Amino acid sequence: MTDLIEALQAPTADRGTGPVRTGTPVSRVDGRAKVTGQAKYAAEHPAPDLAYGVVVSSPAAKGTIRSIDTRAALAVEGVVEVLTHLNRPKIRSFDIAYKDMTAPAGSPFRPLYDGHVMYSGQPLALVVAETFEAARYAASLVTFDIDVEPHGTKLSANLDRAYKPKPLKAGFEPPPDEKGNTDAAFDAAPVKVDAEFYSGVEHHNPMELFASTVIRGDDGHLTIYDKTQSSQNSRWYVSHVFGLSKSKVTVRNTYVGGAFGSGLRPQYQLTLAVMAALHLKRSVRVVLTRQQMFTFGHRPETVQRVKLAAERDGTLRAIWHQAIAETSPIEDYVEVVVNWSGLLYACDNIKLDYKLVKLDQYTPIDMRAPGAAHGVHALEVAMDELAYELKMDPLALRLKNYADRVPIEDKPYSSKELRACYELGAKKFGWEGRPLEPRSMREGTEFIGWGMATGVWDAMQMFARASAVLHADGKLVVSSAATDIGTGTYTVMAMIAAEAMGLPLEDVTFQLGDSTLPVAPIEGGSSHVTTVGSAVAGVCEKLQKTLFKHAQKLRGSPLAEAKFKDVEFAGGTIRLKHRQEAALPLTAILNDSGVVKLEEKYLMLPNMLKQRKFRRLVHSAVFVEVRVDEQTGMVRVTRVTSAIAAGRIMNTKTATSQITGGIVWGISQALHEESYADHRLGRFMNHNYAEYHVPVNADIHAMDVIFVEEDDRIVSRLGAKGVGEIGLVGVAAAVSNAIWHATGKRLRSTPMTPDKVLGGGP
Ligand code: MOS
Repeated sequence: MTDLIEALQAPTADRGTGPVRTGTPVSRVDGRAKVTGQAKYAAEHPAPDLAYGVVVSSPAAKGTIRSIDTRAALAVEGVVEVLTHLNRPKIRSFDIAYKDMTAPAGSPFRPLYDGHVMYSGQPLALVVAETFEAARYAASLVTFDIDVEPHGTKLSANLDRAYKPKPLKAGFEPPPDEKGNTDAAFDAAPVKVDAEFYSGVEHHNPMELFASTVIRGDDGHLTIYDKTQSSQNSRWYVSHVFGLSKSKVTVRNTYVGGAFGSGLRPQYQLTLAVMAALHLKRSVRVVLTRQQMFTFGHRPETVQRVKLAAERDGTLRAIWHQAIAETSPIEDYVEVVVNWSGLLYACDNIKLDYKLVKLDQYTPIDMRAPGAAHGVHALEVAMDELAYELKMDPLALRLKNYADRVPIEDKPYSSKELRACYELGAKKFGWEGRPLEPRSMREGTEFIGWGMATGVWDAMQMFARASAVLHADGKLVVSSAATDIGTGTYTVMAMIAAEAMGLPLEDVTFQLGDSTLPVAPIEGGSSHVTTVGSAVAGVCEKLQKTLFKHAQKLRGSPLAEAKFKDVEFAGGTIRLKHRQEAALPLTAILNDSGVVKLEEKYLMLPNMLKQRKFRRLVHSAVFVEVRVDEQTGMVRVTRVTSAIAAGRIMNTKTATSQITGGIVWGISQALHEESYADHRLGRFMNHNYAEYHVPVNADIHAMDVIFVEEDDRIVSRLGAKGVGEIGLVGVAAAVSNAIWHATGKRLRSTPMTPDKVLGGGP
């Protein structure tokens, strides 16, 4: 067994010895390893003879390198090599080699490929030294002579170049065709809203810096500890880029300190670390700086326009939603921004449009509910504006247009308990009796406002494999190359297996984060429970059946005549459901059958034929109280109630943490986060934790999470639909709507900083 398993099996106070059931609160099984420092992250794995690489970033936004002066850097004591496009080891020349599992259409970026500079901050050299300090100092001495070309990084200056992207990306659906005649319906309707929205660039900023430790074995095998949301994606990428056979490269990501989408694609520190390890034939670690965390993908800057029209009773007549977002010169980064507006409210006329503009930036990348975070934001603020035009309660407007069938396509929802979210959320928050008029509530120097919004996200299922080994001592190890980016994968998968096999949680270990384990998809889209969880349930069912067969064959077996459906797995035994004393311990079954360990493998494929008949979504209703200081424009989000419909909740404790985390990031989107570029330099200027604001404890107040009853066996055999991103969607809109209710000021751009709250424009 690996160190990992030992660390996970260390007894913890919370872990308990009783039976475990999904749907209950269970503390993280990896909690102890994390707080005691046993959990090692990508940059923490030691290796003998480890060299340290430090990246040198481009000062120019666009151009061609004429020459690089590495002499001063090479003269620093301890410096081993400076890698550039001129002396790097050979890498492949076809685009296909650089296509990782989540690459969009286009030509992926190739680190140190040639002398072409395509964005400010691009890695242009890697200084490798015996110590990190020597490498860092020497990196400051590398200079470039770059033939600079004019660049364009400003979206608003380039909107006329917008084009419709090719829909070549897994998980991306282009906007569907228009339903009805939206323009005519809009013109004819008596009550209208027409609003423009702006959201700036955001960067994920996980606490853990991107890092790769490449440990080279004597046989040349590379074991890579990488910060990634998929060990197999990084392994795939490295073997393709460098032409290394799959068996020569193992990638591990046993612990990941947050990622939020930034780890969905291999990042350039991985390529550079492998380059150096191959070139120098030794182990190498590359860790990016916080500044460099702003140089490999971001939530794209986006402008949107939403037009809504309704009858005087609130019946929606037209929904029109357009978005224009940025992408890089080389790839079409696409996300689903506007489609949500065709999924939420009953309406006969819906028109959706999504375009891209190429800027001289790195390709954007998925970030925390990509697309929905700002797409649903625009729709839900516009809905609030419409409610005010109608003199109608914003919640009543949503209920008036509640969709029981998907509006934009002729399909039912696989399940949709959004009405329960509205009702339970409103009740818990105390929405009833809210005055309609803004500026109705104040206390001291602060105006108080209540806002609400709907949230929606996909309930996805991908395919995965899992294996399970039951040892003669009753310990169960279940494995899949899944990832836990802090979300609770270790815990939930162990719970699913423990419940299935009737074993105490401490006897079950879920092994993940290693590219040699059975195939699992990237951890993204809040889909790991529906996908890997279903694979775990599947492999355990196979194990149950095999154990049952063994049990029946034992001499004098009390189960000899039983059918599989008549038995249950509980208390470490197989027993008859209706005669529990007829029980055989699993350990006894293995020992008496002469089996040292029982192993099963399982491939979970989604039932696509069944699934595609339904639109599969998770929903939420978010209610927010803000207090806005009249003098300073400071906004405090003092209360949030989030009611979630996401199918069966497997672990109510970690799921609640997921949703509160989502709320925090929603408040962050609403009030804090933006990467500001100096367009003369084409560079993000607030590239540090001091100036790129994320919420701290003082920004976060009361949060209430409610899970409404829902059970969806179309999305997954577990009844689960997945949580995570749904916690964020709608939060910023609810904050915006609450600011309006508090102050009478309508803000249509994020973040809603005090200057905007006090200022004249939106
Ligand atoms: Mo998430 S943005 O799918 O990691």
